[in-house]
Amino acid sequence: MNKNWSILNFKSIDDERGSLVALEAGGEIPFDVKRIYYLFNLDINNNRGYHAHKELKQVLVCMHGECKILVDDGKDKEEIILDSSKKGLYLNNCVWREIYDFKKEAVLVAIVSEHYDEADYLRNYDDFIKFIEANHEN
Ligand code: TYD
Repeated sequence: MNKNWSILNFKSIDDERGSLVALEAGGEIPFDVKRIYYLFNLDINNNRGYHAHKELKQVLVCMHGECKILVDDGKDKEEIILDSSKKGLYLNNCVWREIYDFKKEAVLVAIVSEHYDEADYLRNYDDFIKFIEANHEN
């Protein structure tokens, strides 16, 4: 697995009433959590993402339905399918992501390490490559 992303398999507590997954900062989530946001009302024909972050790290969980995420650190690329609320995708900083193929009323939750800051975004792929070259991130 690439050092800049990894699949997290969460333990669920299951009984006759249903299932429960608990995520703790510093435990299942490998950073202090500052923000949570979620994407819903998604459309199979409209992709999202197309950016990287200079500093922000995040864990993405598809809580319902499924989607695909292309991750790219400028060296390696991988397409990951998120299709379970027991699976998370950890993304280090400086990972380009494209999110698509939203199916079955997908709901994607992002658990993130920083407050919202547009200055942390790299929204152009060439700028992303220049940034990682300049910062020796890879
Ligand atoms: P954007 O990052 O472009 O979404 P995605 O990468 O998932 O396609 O965000 C869409 C808009 O929402 C953009 O105008 C920025 C705004 N936004 C916030 O105000 N706060 C947030 O926490 C996030 C993630 C986005």
